[in-house]
Amino acid sequence: MTHTNLYILGIESSCDDTAAAVIHNGKILSNVVASQEIHAQYGGVVPELASRAHQQNIVPVVHQALHGANIDKNQLSAIAFTRGPGLMGSLLVGTSFSKSLALALDIPLIDVDHMQAHILAHFIEEEGKTPPTFPFLAMTISGGHTQIVKVTNYFEMEVIGQTLDDAVGEAFDKSAKILGLPYPGGPLIDKNAQEGNPKRFKFPKPRVNPMDFSFSGLKTAVLYFVEKETKENPNFIEDNIADICASLQKTIVEYLMDKLKNAVKNTGIKEIAIGGGVSANSGIRKALKEAESNYGWTTHVPKFEYCTDNAAMIAIVGELKYKQGDFTSSEVTASARLKF
Ligand code: KG4
Ligand code: ZN
Repeated sequence: MTHTNLYILGIESSCDDTAAAVIHNGKILSNVVASQEIHAQYGGVVPELASRAHQQNIVPVVHQALHGANIDKNQLSAIAFTRGPGLMGSLLVGTSFSKSLALALDIPLIDVDHMQAHILAHFIEEEGKTPPTFPFLAMTISGGHTQIVKVTNYFEMEVIGQTLDDAVGEAFDKSAKILGLPYPGGPLIDKNAQEGNPKRFKFPKPRVNPMDFSFSGLKTAVLYFVEKETKENPNFIEDNIADICASLQKTIVEYLMDKLKNAVKNTGIKEIAIGGGVSANSGIRKALKEAESNYGWTTHVPKFEYCTDNAAMIAIVGELKYKQGDFTSSEVTASARLKF
């Protein structure tokens, strides 16, 4: 069977972004994301509100994706959707919508693992970029995930390291909250860090297994540090925000790089791909570039819109699975703790 004229709709609703995208022969024709502003005032994602917002957003978002791709829904070859992991109430919206649409259009349904999709986003065709070659190490770093995966083939993946508590994005966001920065604070820490002295303050790097991560101690350390310093100088945060952010960012980036170095040592693989919202961080990007010349690594960072939660990554997995004839039955259910 040839697959020259595939149009696959990807749908993502695992957390707080409702997203839809259309892919055609490896190329993304449209990539629409409706982010939910509602959570900012609570300082984090509220599952009940996320689910409700997905229900409001999903029809217009899908409509916009089809319109943007300039195709009619009757031209679709299949529907790929995020089955998990994620928030149950959020996953259910995308799952049931996808099932109904596939049924109505009488086309195949393809279930996608969100974590695999973050990794396979590297195979979306991008001008001037070459995809990673197998085997490679993928580090997925975001507000919901922190893991290192050994990728031997498209669907042969093994998690070799992961966080034991908070995700790295949470470490950024929770520290930022302590510093009085609005949610999500990660990008603001990055921004403030640009003007700061990264060597001014020291923060701890929790000791766990060489390829695992722990971030919950870091936010506690930041809290105690800020409390102690503001007792002596009530304006401590304002006076030192750039140096605090730069020092904090240096600690986190070094910690991520240490773990990657351990994974490279352990596996002998020097082909590295990162994904997830924290890949936008200027510190980690710089450290990866330096690792290319310092350690002979080859590194891959996708376009930012393919790093954060998006449906283009769901669509590319849909296309890869379609070509293998890997379809799912209409009995499929969402799985909050899906593992590959
Ligand atoms: O992938 P994403 O959009 O959503 C999920 O969490 O799945 O990632 C969002 C996370 C947030 O924690 C945000 O603070 C963090 O990515 N982030 C950053 C930067 N840009 C986004 N963290 C540090 N530096 C950045 N420049
Ligand atoms: Zn994600």
